[in-house]
Amino acid sequence: MCGIVGYVGNRQGLNLALEALRRMEYRGYDSSGIAVAGSDGLNMVKRAGKLANLEDKIADVGQESLAGTTAIGHTRWATHGRPTDDNAHPHLAYDGKAAVVHNGIIENFAALREELERDGVELVSDTDTEVAAQLLAKAYNEGETAGNFRDSALTVLNRLEGAFTVLFLHEDHPGTVIAARRSTPLIVGVGDGEMFLGSDVAAFIEHTKQAVELGQDSVVVITADDYEILDFDGRPAEGRPFTIDWDLQAAEKGGFDSFMMKEIHEQPAAVRDTLAGHFADGRVFLDENNISETELKSFDQVFVVACGSAYHSGLLAKYAIEHWVRIPVQIEVASEFRYRDPVLDERTLVLAISQSGETADTLEAVRHAKTQGAKVLAVCNTNGSQIPRESDAVLYTHAGPEIGVASTKAFLAQVAANYIVGLALAQAKGTKFPDEIKEIWERLEEIPAQIEQVLETKDDIQSIADTLGAVQTMLFLGRNVGFPVALEGALKLKELAYIHAEGFPAGELKHGPIALIEEDLPVVVVVPSPRGVKLLHSKIVSNIQEIRARGARTIVIAEEGDTAVEPYANWLIRVPQTPSIMQPLLATVPLQFLAADIARACGNDDIDKPRNLAKSVTVE
Ligand code: M6R
Repeated sequence: MCGIVGYVGNRQGLNLALEALRRMEYRGYDSSGIAVAGSDGLNMVKRAGKLANLEDKIADVGQESLAGTTAIGHTRWATHGRPTDDNAHPHLAYDGKAAVVHNGIIENFAALREELERDGVELVSDTDTEVAAQLLAKAYNEGETAGNFRDSALTVLNRLEGAFTVLFLHEDHPGTVIAARRSTPLIVGVGDGEMFLGSDVAAFIEHTKQAVELGQDSVVVITADDYEILDFDGRPAEGRPFTIDWDLQAAEKGGFDSFMMKEIHEQPAAVRDTLAGHFADGRVFLDENNISETELKSFDQVFVVACGSAYHSGLLAKYAIEHWVRIPVQIEVASEFRYRDPVLDERTLVLAISQSGETADTLEAVRHAKTQGAKVLAVCNTNGSQIPRESDAVLYTHAGPEIGVASTKAFLAQVAANYIVGLALAQAKGTKFPDEIKEIWERLEEIPAQIEQVLETKDDIQSIADTLGAVQTMLFLGRNVGFPVALEGALKLKELAYIHAEGFPAGELKHGPIALIEEDLPVVVVVPSPRGVKLLHSKIVSNIQEIRARGARTIVIAEEGDTAVEPYANWLIRVPQTPSIMQPLLATVPLQFLAADIARACGNDDIDKPRNLAKSVTVE
């Protein structure tokens, strides 16, 4: 949530920061701004609204008024204060010489604000961030740290409570940016004669692949030729250098009209790459994992914590693990988990699923689980992010950067990763024979090619959306593993089309939701394979008849060869045959297209950036 960039080098900082903000706009897009330090002092431009508004403002003021090779920039997702020009970052100090950008929440900002006001400082925004800028100016202008940028920054940092990434720029030090992180992300990009800072690597991926991950409570001072890492007391600290294996193209649209469409089409690769390397010589490997086979064997329950789409992937983990491993799996929305005092111990495996690895609710759930003695295994898509760092072990999904706010490829990759965890547990506990595991794995390996086939339904789904037009509400039904698919389909539609959508277990229909059925209401039904549990299939066929009898229009997703559903489907979308547990990896895809197409039919063209949402939710 919020994208941050910092730069020191020999190029124009304005252009570089603008380009970085463009790539990170998915992190927040209700306002943006850039401050540049150069021979003309410190200059700043900021604007409410999307980045295009900032570009217009830059055109108005003229690029020459923002010359300089040191810059900080920010794209905002508002927490404190409405998205206005004044509340946009950077925030300037009272003397106009210091600028700050910030991601996260300064929890003690009200007390700091009062103190500053008592001292006669006039604050001009409603944000928590501005206090950091004003404190920096005071520390730099008065007392023991006067004139010392670094010590002034450390003084300020030690007064801030909460979770934050902050970047400080000072007019008197045009070749330096000082930054710090506590519980929110910040990566250093190491160039040749230039240094970068970014909330994620998308900020600088075009310029360097060499990066450094910073530990918790780290401060970094960058100049054109060097970076120095400190702790909050100013003592030397270490970072973890790594090479970025995503390329620039992966962070751009690749010919599609939106990142989301590109990412939907990348799903075969996302699943294939996530599975790659985890099965060899008849055995499943969790090779990025610090949990031993003995520990895996010792777990007698699994607890899944996640939010949104990641939670839906976790529901599928429950079906798979309980079926394959025969131990109970509980699942909880991460924001509820720690407040409920769940019963955990050292024989509990907590599976924390997060694309970004930054989701505050999931992170807090991880922390809570660790205090209870549970082992935490993160399933995460973002290398070096906070959740894997604080977990005992990590299984990375290899979906590549997901830019569209609505999760697509990361969701399918999470499902695949969850199944790897399930098979590893089954192997360790001996609840599946090696030949059974091998057979399941071989079917999993067929999934990417089958997703390719499902992608070919795109035009059919477009014509369904065209016929439906701008709908007001939509229901999604499923049974067994089709239920999480129904939830995910409904979530996608809510996010993208801003219309009311609900996912239900089809069996619950008669316990209330059937009252919602009226003439022409579109209802999506995810039908389990008739080759699986026969009763399940016949029950859902009855459910389809019940809703059709009440006038609903049915969009039925069923596997090839399932003829029983044909008489009851207004529209029938076919997916290839696969074992029931794997059907969600196929059945979800048409629902992603459907949500995008209905969104556009409703006039929401910018499906990458749905209103009010941000890609990474780094506040609770
Ligand atoms: O980064 P995470 O996987 O932890 O994010 C969790 C949710 O915020 C995320 O899945 C959200 O629900 C998506 N917008 C769904 O499309």
